[in-house]
Amino acid sequence: MCGIVGYVGYRNLESVLLVGLERLSYRGYDSSGIAIISDGELSYWKTPGKIHELEKLLQNMSIQGHVGIGHTRWSTHGEPNEVNAHPQINAPHKIAIVHNGIIENYQSLKSKLLSEGFLFRSQTDSEVIVHLIARYLQDNLLEAVERAMLDLEGTYAFAVIAEKEPDKVIVAKKGSPLIIGIGKNENFISSDLNAVIPHTKDVIYMDDMDIAIVESQAVLFKKLGGAYIEKEIHHITWDATSADKNGYDHYMLKEIFEQPTIIRNIISKTIDGDHIKFDSLRMSNEELIKTTRFIIQACGTSWHAGLVAKYLMERYARVLTEVDISSEFRYRQMITGINDIVVAISQSGETADTLACIREAKSKFFKVLSFVNVQGSTIDRESDGIIYTNSGPEVGVASTKNYVAQLVTLYLFTLYLSHLKWSISSNDLVTMISELKRIPDYIDQILEQKESIRAIADKYYQHREFLFIGRGLNYPSALEGALKLKEISYIHATGYAAGELKHGPIALIDEHLPVVCIAPQSPTYDKMISNIQEVRARKGKTIVIATEGDHSIEEFADDIIRIPHVSEELTPILTVIPMQLLSYYIAVKLDCDVDQPRNLAKSVTVE
Ligand code: M6R
Repeated sequence: MCGIVGYVGYRNLESVLLVGLERLSYRGYDSSGIAIISDGELSYWKTPGKIHELEKLLQNMSIQGHVGIGHTRWSTHGEPNEVNAHPQINAPHKIAIVHNGIIENYQSLKSKLLSEGFLFRSQTDSEVIVHLIARYLQDNLLEAVERAMLDLEGTYAFAVIAEKEPDKVIVAKKGSPLIIGIGKNENFISSDLNAVIPHTKDVIYMDDMDIAIVESQAVLFKKLGGAYIEKEIHHITWDATSADKNGYDHYMLKEIFEQPTIIRNIISKTIDGDHIKFDSLRMSNEELIKTTRFIIQACGTSWHAGLVAKYLMERYARVLTEVDISSEFRYRQMITGINDIVVAISQSGETADTLACIREAKSKFFKVLSFVNVQGSTIDRESDGIIYTNSGPEVGVASTKNYVAQLVTLYLFTLYLSHLKWSISSNDLVTMISELKRIPDYIDQILEQKESIRAIADKYYQHREFLFIGRGLNYPSALEGALKLKEISYIHATGYAAGELKHGPIALIDEHLPVVCIAPQSPTYDKMISNIQEVRARKGKTIVIATEGDHSIEEFADDIIRIPHVSEELTPILTVIPMQLLSYYIAVKLDCDVDQPRNLAKSVTVE
């Protein structure tokens, strides 16, 4: 959460910082600001609101300079206002910092600094960093940064500039991501790849306790309290344009419509004839075959993908699979088995709870296998084994294309493992792969129903509550449908296993409650029909997602959305598509900020 950018070089400083902030705005967008050094003098501007508010503020200024830092904020300590926005400043020493993370001991540091006469203006935890650096600053900024770091507890990525050393940005990292983009006579700083890839594809990932001294001609790295170190330069293959809207009104809609192409790409990368291969896996077949338990942990939408994977892994690979929410997993007493593998699923590869779990797991000598979208992310780098979900940069805060990419990738992994263990035959594998190959066309067919889904959205958008129900593999789909709706439209929505209806939620049902019923053909279809009838008997409105050609279900549906017929294990990939569109059109109708819903951030890098 929060985006950090920095630049040292000879381009238009204002534009590099603003474009960078715009590209990071999905990390947090309640206020923003920049600080620069021009002709040896520090200046800064900041404002509440989205990046365009900052652009307005800077409109008639002619900002010159070669060194600058910027920040887009997702508030933790202190409400979003001008004073709490970053940069945070120490005025007497002319120092500015931008910070991402949480300083856990800021209260005690603040009391100490106040007693020494430092003036605090904001309610942020971050302000202690700039005053600490000022406290220690004598002749050398680097030394002051290092001494400040020794006092800080918690997580941080921060960038600091000071009039005293006007040609550099010093950055430090512990627990929050930070990347240096290497250019020619210029260098870039960012909390993730998105702000860097329009300018350079050569990046260095900072590790915890790394400090970098960034100047236009060089970047020096050292460990806190240690020697200077060499860092590896990684060449990124991501394309900057894939993070543009491409003519769609919103990133979310663009990303929904990208899904068929993404699946085609995953299939062509992963399937070679009748074989499945994961180039990046970094784990041996022997290790996978002897696994007696997978413990999946993830958050939000990635957790829903994990729930689907449990059904698949147990059904086909015959391996016991547990699924936990990362923030819960960490605090229970795990029973460790020598052949267990902890699996992390994460789009961003930076989610703090998920990352903390893999660190905890590794400290207990578990092997960690991660399914990650963002290459080079912290989870990617810290896992023993890695499988990329390859959905390209996902910008909409509500995850859509990466969820579907996760489902497809987890399905392919299940087939891979099942075939290794001979729990499915080569013939089964061929049949299952060929059905998967038809999925992109099926999604295209569902997307063609967008106007009728929009009409359903128009009919129900004023309801303040929705229920989503499904069974088996589509119980996680119900959770995902409800999450999509609530996060972008602020309508209260709950996902339930349909069989649980009569154990409580049925009390909610009356003529005012729309219930999205996920009812594709499956072994639990008849049970699902009974659940839909229970809803109808209480006058609930049913929006039914059903298989093409299933006419008997029509009498139970107020509204119906069709998906093509597929085997049960592939239905979650299809049933989620109409729910993404339904949520999208409801949110648009309610005039909600679809791509940047209130209070949310794309990657949750604080616990
Ligand atoms: O980057 P991750 O997959 O680890 O993120 C996990 C959740 O924060 C994320 O899925 C979140 O729930 C999304 N807003 C869902 O649309």
